[in-house]
Amino acid sequence: MDTKERSERSPPPAPKRASTLKKGIVTAAVIVLLYGAHTYRTHCGSRGTQQRSGREIGSVEWAPASQCAPGTQCGSVIVPKDYFDLSAGTASIAIARFPATKFPKKGTVFLNPGGPGGSGTRLAAPEFANIIGDDWDLLGFDPRGINNTSPQVKCFDSNSDYNFFVANTVLQQGFTVSSSANLSDPKLEAELVQQSREFLALKKSQGELCAKNMGEELRYMGTATVVRDMDFMAKIFDGEQGKINYWGASYGSILGAYLVNMLPERAGFVVIDGIADPVNWSTEPSHKWPANWLASTEKTYRFYLETCSRAGPDACPIAAYQGEPYEDMMARLESFFDRLAVTPLPVPFAIRPGYLTSGAARALLLMYLERPPQWSDSALAFGQAMAGNGTLLFNKLATPRLPPSLTPEYDLVRLGVTCSDSPPPASPKEVPTPEDLAAEFIRTMQEVSPHFGASVSVGEPDGGCQYWPFAGKGPERFVGPWNASLEWPMLIVSNTMDPITPIQSGMRINSLMPESSRIIIQDGPGHCSTAIPTLCTVKLVRGYYAGTLPENGTMCDIEEYPFFPDRDADVSATANLGLSAEDARLMRSVRAVGEILQDVRRGW
Ligand SMILES: *[C@@H]1O[C@H](CO)[C@@H](O)[C@H](O)[C@H]1NC(C)=O
Ligand SMILES: *[C@@H]1O[C@H](CO)[C@@H](O)[C@H](O)[C@H]1NC(C)=O
Ligand SMILES: *[C@@H]1O[C@H](CO)[C@@H](O)[C@H](O)[C@H]1NC(C)=O
Ligand SMILES: *[C@@H]1O[C@H](CO)[C@@H](O)[C@H](O)[C@H]1NC(C)=O
Ligand SMILES: *[C@@H]1O[C@H](CO)[C@@H](O)[C@H](O)[C@H]1NC(C)=O
Ligand SMILES: *[C@@H]1O[C@H](CO)[C@@H](O)[C@H](O)[C@H]1NC(C)=O
Repeated sequence: MDTKERSERSPPPAPKRASTLKKGIVTAAVIVLLYGAHTYRTHCGSRGTQQRSGREIGSVEWAPASQCAPGTQCGSVIVPKDYFDLSAGTASIAIARFPATKFPKKGTVFLNPGGPGGSGTRLAAPEFANIIGDDWDLLGFDPRGINNTSPQVKCFDSNSDYNFFVANTVLQQGFTVSSSANLSDPKLEAELVQQSREFLALKKSQGELCAKNMGEELRYMGTATVVRDMDFMAKIFDGEQGKINYWGASYGSILGAYLVNMLPERAGFVVIDGIADPVNWSTEPSHKWPANWLASTEKTYRFYLETCSRAGPDACPIAAYQGEPYEDMMARLESFFDRLAVTPLPVPFAIRPGYLTSGAARALLLMYLERPPQWSDSALAFGQAMAGNGTLLFNKLATPRLPPSLTPEYDLVRLGVTCSDSPPPASPKEVPTPEDLAAEFIRTMQEVSPHFGASVSVGEPDGGCQYWPFAGKGPERFVGPWNASLEWPMLIVSNTMDPITPIQSGMRINSLMPESSRIIIQDGPGHCSTAIPTLCTVKLVRGYYAGTLPENGTMCDIEEYPFFPDRDADVSATANLGLSAEDARLMRSVRAVGEILQDVRRGW
């Protein structure tokens, strides 16, 4: 595989910093940097963030303060579109910086919210500074393909074309499993094959549209290229010797793992939270990923039901009575899913009229398991749906892609990244067929998660890379090794009950880098430690960026439980719990960051 060669090849020389960035420069300050022997025409006052603006590689342009979020500086950095071939032109990376307020400042921390497909600029926020430290500049950026970065993924002529395309298809409603009680029933396989045919036809249609409207541009969105972007920007902002400091959650853990293993000598302070397995990600086709991701899902589901049962039907309407055995609740949900599989529920009065399928309801339950702060809402929505009113539940499905504030074509941005990162099928024989997809669903249900083994595709819309233009054929694909030695160990944060990025993936990175990583474990549910704020975890993270390495294997307990709103209220009314003002501020900050992360990734 030529990938390895590529990883060992050096990219062209880094930019020389020609001028020091002064704090507070917010208006169109263009810093011109030398870049190799290539010359580019410069137009100051360029045409906004358009691609091919004529701005020179290495130039940083700051927008007027009025265009940025309060307290931040925002703008764009021009980088080589392809670090191995400068003739490919330039890309413009949208950035937002929340500057350090305490001096001397230590450098810049790059932030990634996950997805892939999440816009990072919103993370440059004061709440993040509370977590990471006031003596760092925080730099949120939109990775390749996303939001205000160009090239931007834009395959459909309009957002409404895209919304029409996915509406009520298997892409939106997920895969329905009608005989979940008997995974060896041949009828099940036939149903999944049929739905996979529809799924692949839609993916093929998308892929061809993207090829026509985006073409070559789709080559430049892989994670390895985003690592090069961070390296390039770190040198601009912190000087030639400036290390790359980083914080990333969910898919951001993949970007972090690539960073420390591609450029170990460049890595500084790196924290990853909510870990996806980078080995699996880079070497297996995406239909194999869920078997890995769902390792803790059943445990989380059981915890959800047990907590609901303890809270009782007033707080959690899924429970018939307080203390109901979780098995009974699970059986009731299963029979609801089975009824839906036969007869979908009409929802005429949802945000948009439609119908709720069994596949959609299961997929929504899985997505809710990631978000403990919304467990009360989920119980209300499921309670009503089981009683015949699917409006609340279906609204969750219908909302995300509609508001214009969301990155249009979120799913396609994601494919731009995942299809660049995963291996291209070496021969037509290796292309996953509908039968292969069905077999993988069944295997995942049999071996890993009987309830959600076929339910990942709505929340994590991967697949169809065989139709994606230039899949696996970007300028660079990184496939390891994953055992880099670091000067300062990386910090890994995993929850014991993360239903989509299981602790086993955190442990895997930790065991591949035993001397160069520390893992801390939050003993609680949800996707990423921000799902349920704990002082224990946030203080270890804050301490890490201040230079204190936590003991490897430190456990942090959760102190508040979903479905028990009183405790939540107590934590805000901190004085009652004896939290210091500083601790209360930390807790509020983690909560706010958790909300931003969820919002950026998915819209709810
Ligand atoms: C599951 O389905 C298979 C094939 O139809 C059948 O042989 C088996 O008895 C079923 N098992 C149960 C527990 O119903
Ligand atoms: C991917 O994950 C699955 C499930 O954990 C595992 O069986 C498989 O070996 C992994 N593949 C790689 C290449 O690590
Ligand atoms: C269905 O639920 C929605 C949302 O809770 C509510 O507004 C609506 O009145 C309900 N419809 C009926 C017929 O109860
Ligand atoms: C895209 O960036 C703008 C700031 O320019 C921000 O307001 C918006 O929320 C971002 N979109 C998403 C989906 O985060
Ligand atoms: C890392 O792994 C590679 C390949 O798996 C191996 O050749 C190399 O010796 C390892 N390096 C270290 C420092 O363990
Ligand atoms: C770090 O802690 C994890 C979790 O307790 C443990 O599995 C691993 O072996 C530890 N690593 C080292 C090098 O001690």
